[in-house]
Amino acid sequence: MLSYRHAYHAGNHADVLKHLLLVNCLRYLRQKEKPLCYVDSHAAAGGYSLQSDASQKRAEFQSGITKLWQQNDLPDCLADYRQLVAEYNQSKNLVSYPGSPWFASKILGAQDQLWLHELHSNEAENLKAAFRGDRRIKVVQGDGHQGVIGLMPPPQRRGLVLIDPSYEVKSEYQQVVETLLKAHRRFATGIYALWYPVVARQRIERLEKVLRQSGIQRIQLYELNVTADNPDYGMTGSGMIVINPPWTLDKSMQQALPYLAHHLSDKGEGSYRIETVVGES
Ligand SMILES: C[S@@+](CC[C@H](N)C(=O)[O-])C[C@H]1O[C@@H](n2cnc3c(N)ncnc32)[C@H](O)[C@@H]1O
Repeated sequence: MLSYRHAYHAGNHADVLKHLLLVNCLRYLRQKEKPLCYVDSHAAAGGYSLQSDASQKRAEFQSGITKLWQQNDLPDCLADYRQLVAEYNQSKNLVSYPGSPWFASKILGAQDQLWLHELHSNEAENLKAAFRGDRRIKVVQGDGHQGVIGLMPPPQRRGLVLIDPSYEVKSEYQQVVETLLKAHRRFATGIYALWYPVVARQRIERLEKVLRQSGIQRIQLYELNVTADNPDYGMTGSGMIVINPPWTLDKSMQQALPYLAHHLSDKGEGSYRIETVVGES
């Protein structure tokens, strides 16, 4: 049994990047009135107390959302993201942090549909409890890779798939590509957002290479590093790979990433990457 629990990491710099990007993409999709579908392959619990023993153990949120909480010079897209976190907290104090399903449920409308996959029974139960009564939301306890592929194409023919594994086993780097390829074959116009950790640089280079050779077009990469690459440090940063990014995303990330690299970094060692992995031919 794998041991990952997102409560230990909630609100860290990787969550900031992931949820900022998620909010931006979903806001774009919501500009049209047409129904859309959100699919979360690895949803976790949906929301976290930052005062729990798990969150307090390494207090990772202090390297992420805490550093943005009092800032008064946030770029617009970061201010929008922080406002949502503030709404989740329902107070001026930062005591809890929402997960990806909550951000999506907040932004999506009454006509939209959300599919949340979570393999582990405790987290799936927490997820069900968090969204009980919300008829737009279906929680599936099971494998998110199979779940994503099985749902494509969604009947709405519009939507976003978030693929956010914990990468506890190295084979997940391969598995995420297989999932993306199969899902994209069935639903080529969807937005796909894949999260990856920066722990060992060569794994990311391999991931980018496989995607460059995949035949999929319009792939963009956004990465935030809070310190220089260091295999002995653990996670020094993280990135999001987005297939079919909304045209608004690049501009937002051009504003947000330099800000985050500066404010969330250790001793000014932060950096970021904005790169086109594959353009449009
Ligand atoms: C990084 S967390 C997800 C965080 C969440 N997306 C968020 O942003 O709030 C990864 C989650 O995937 C779950 N998980 C691991 N393997 C899975 C699988 N094959 N299918 C679905 N969920 C899985 C873990 O239990 C964990 O809760």
